[in-house]
Amino acid sequence: MNPSHDSAIAVTEAGPTARPLDMDGLSWILFGHAAFQYLNAASELNLFELLEGGPLTKEEIRTGLGLAERATDILLLGCTSLGLLEKEDGRYRLAQVLSTLLATPDWKRFKDVVALEQYVVYEGQLDFTESLRTNKNAGLRRVRGSGRDLYHRLSENPHMEQVFYRYMRSWSEMANPHLVANLDLSQTKRLLDCGGGDAVNSIALAKANSHLEVTVFEIPATQVIAEKTIREAGLSERVSVLAGDMFADPFPTGFDCVLFAHQLVIWTPEENTKLLRKAYDVLPKGGRVAVFNSMSNDEGDGPVVAALDSVYFAALPAEGGMIYPWSVHERCMRDAGFHSVERIDWTEGWTPHGLIVGTK
Ligand SMILES: C[S@@+](CC[C@H](N)C(=O)[O-])C[C@H]1O[C@@H](n2cnc3c(N)ncnc32)[C@H](O)[C@@H]1O
Repeated sequence: MNPSHDSAIAVTEAGPTARPLDMDGLSWILFGHAAFQYLNAASELNLFELLEGGPLTKEEIRTGLGLAERATDILLLGCTSLGLLEKEDGRYRLAQVLSTLLATPDWKRFKDVVALEQYVVYEGQLDFTESLRTNKNAGLRRVRGSGRDLYHRLSENPHMEQVFYRYMRSWSEMANPHLVANLDLSQTKRLLDCGGGDAVNSIALAKANSHLEVTVFEIPATQVIAEKTIREAGLSERVSVLAGDMFADPFPTGFDCVLFAHQLVIWTPEENTKLLRKAYDVLPKGGRVAVFNSMSNDEGDGPVVAALDSVYFAALPAEGGMIYPWSVHERCMRDAGFHSVERIDWTEGWTPHGLIVGTK
């Protein structure tokens, strides 16, 4: 894993995933679900915000959170032994990583990721083994509704939909400054943001490129969400939404760049090649496709966040999907016809994001 130097959340080889694995590391994995519950409870109870002003005693924390004594004991036992808090002279203070993160806009985004894990990801992961056995997203059965995949069921589950799009915006915002910095759109007139969600990336790219027109291609249920975000950003003149199904419908024409952001982690490589070919077919010569999402390494042994995130993609959203190695996306792009394929790998940040740009 690449150590992060300037991110609020530095990732190092130390800690529970240090190798070689010992019994301590093994028990972190064994009780990983419980470790997450401490993080989620502390996040929902605003324990970390309570400690932002400085160290507090157990009694001050108990009163601040309005918890019973036993509940406070459990929460502090967990948060201290996991390293989220440190205890000195009878007072509890935030771990450095948390106090650094709390002082940045990424804090709210981090909490949105915690909420996704709790309310969208957690339950479906119970079917991970079954998903591996059947090579299908068995966990979708735990999400109410009849839609063919998670995205087509979100509107049937309003709380889940809210948690999902809040997370998606935050996850994109944490990484898209790199997209904006690395995807040169100075010569691009019109960009198609395929499966563009609430338009978070379209808005960032439109803001950074004042000449650019962007169209978000989304399912009808998400069109409404995207249009609201675009209106709020004051970009309705240059960013629009086209409702459709990127598999069933033809791609719209007239674009010189097609973006797939956090999209090709959902589907099988065969489906990805099909989508990339549809993009290829509507692009002019010299037009580009950009794939922006988390990537795993070509050795197949990390980074660990890519591995952990792949459980969700195996168990829940759709039948295919994982955090694919770079080389799989590159192969799909070439199979779709793109002759020049450029890998743009940045090492900052704790999410394993990357960008691949193909040219027709
Ligand atoms: C993981 S989200 C990514 C959203 C956005 N690109 C981002 O990076 O924040 C995937 C998006 O693809 C959309 N999507 C899924 N299937 C689709 C389809 N068949 N046609 C159009 N959009 C689709 C979903 O509604 C969802 O908003």
